[in-house]
Amino acid sequence: MEVSAQGKQNEKILLAYSGGLDTSVAIHWLKEKYGCEVIAVTVDVGQSDDLKDAMRRAKTIGASRAWMIDAKKEFADNFVLPALKANALYEGNYPLSTAIARPLMVEKLVEMAKRLDCTTIAHGCTAKGNDQVRFEVSIMALAPDMGILAPVREWKMTREDEINYAKEHDIPIPVSVEKPYSIDESIWGRAIECGVLEDPWTEPPEDIFEWTNGTDTSPQEHEYVEIGFFQGKPISLNGVQMGFLDIIAKLNDIAGNHGVGRIDHIENRLVGIKSREVYEAPAAIVLIKAHQDLESLVMAKDLLHYKKVIEQHYSDLIYNGLWFSPLKDAMDAFVEKSQEMVTGTIKLKLFKGSAVVVGRESPYSLYSTALSTYAKGDEFDHSSAKGFIYVWGLPLKVGSMVKAGANGNGTTGEAAVSEGSYTVCK
Ligand code: ARG
Repeated sequence: MEVSAQGKQNEKILLAYSGGLDTSVAIHWLKEKYGCEVIAVTVDVGQSDDLKDAMRRAKTIGASRAWMIDAKKEFADNFVLPALKANALYEGNYPLSTAIARPLMVEKLVEMAKRLDCTTIAHGCTAKGNDQVRFEVSIMALAPDMGILAPVREWKMTREDEINYAKEHDIPIPVSVEKPYSIDESIWGRAIECGVLEDPWTEPPEDIFEWTNGTDTSPQEHEYVEIGFFQGKPISLNGVQMGFLDIIAKLNDIAGNHGVGRIDHIENRLVGIKSREVYEAPAAIVLIKAHQDLESLVMAKDLLHYKKVIEQHYSDLIYNGLWFSPLKDAMDAFVEKSQEMVTGTIKLKLFKGSAVVVGRESPYSLYSTALSTYAKGDEFDHSSAKGFIYVWGLPLKVGSMVKAGANGNGTTGEAAVSEGSYTVCK
């Protein structure tokens, strides 16, 4: 429900506050425009910013209250994990670090809005991005009566105007005209947009990266990591059992140090725009690679192939803001069922930006050396291959013979089809 300016004075607006430029300006702007109370709520999904400082800034700018909700564990277990089990990569590249954080944020914001008697939730998304869709569609799904405000969509300021607005009103902001990047982070990855990146020909400058080394500065020595999975969930790193959230944090450090997880992607947004996106997602890339590889080892071919179709659909659905949809729930059920045997260990080698799977083992491995070997101990029944190929190729053989006969050059064909009548002559 879009909200109008009238009659807001006595209401409370809950603002999804990130501490960034847009939402900092929004606190001041909302109060000025609607004359109502603004409560800032930040959901911690693993942003590396100082969120306590962001809370203080929200109050300085004029929020009546500022809350921070630590949702990192919930994010890992209920949002990242299903995405990992589905090997979710939008357009084969982007691990959806921002896209999966939005539905969780909305869950928390709605909870908080109800608790604090707020009638409206405001967010700082622009009119050109996917996040506005994700926020609003998720609010519509979880709290159909909640009002929604999108100040950035209304105020028609450029980023430079916003920076100037902030200066005029003494709003402390973390960006400058020289470093105008829009950054979004969760434990699953860091997205970088705007500035020179808007020219798809321009190589991303080294100073935009914070989680990953470039190939110049990453170690000269490779490093191995071993990831243990239980039914699709990572449960250990290098033989040490640990929680999923810790595994992600550690892998962001280890793989990021080796420069793994940089993604430079021309992306198709839901709102019809192609955009140039740069990501850093070391843990996501390593874990998805490892998980995919373990699935290859333990999953029956038809399930594996069918799941890949689901995975693409699932990634699109998440990207497009439909986390809280019946189709997503049904797909989750399929993916969950598919993970029953996804237990085992994957070994990867990290070096100069690459993460390569070099070993795998599982109690449910369908790989049989006796069947695959070309050496001694071969148990494959070689004589069965001939009959199999006869049956497998038979439709092609018959089809080809019929075609040859119809073209009038069939010498061996038993059948010929005459043009128009399709009569078959023996
Ligand atoms: N393009 C990505 C997505 O739509 C990342 C968006 C990052 N958001 C941001 N405010 N910088 O999921």
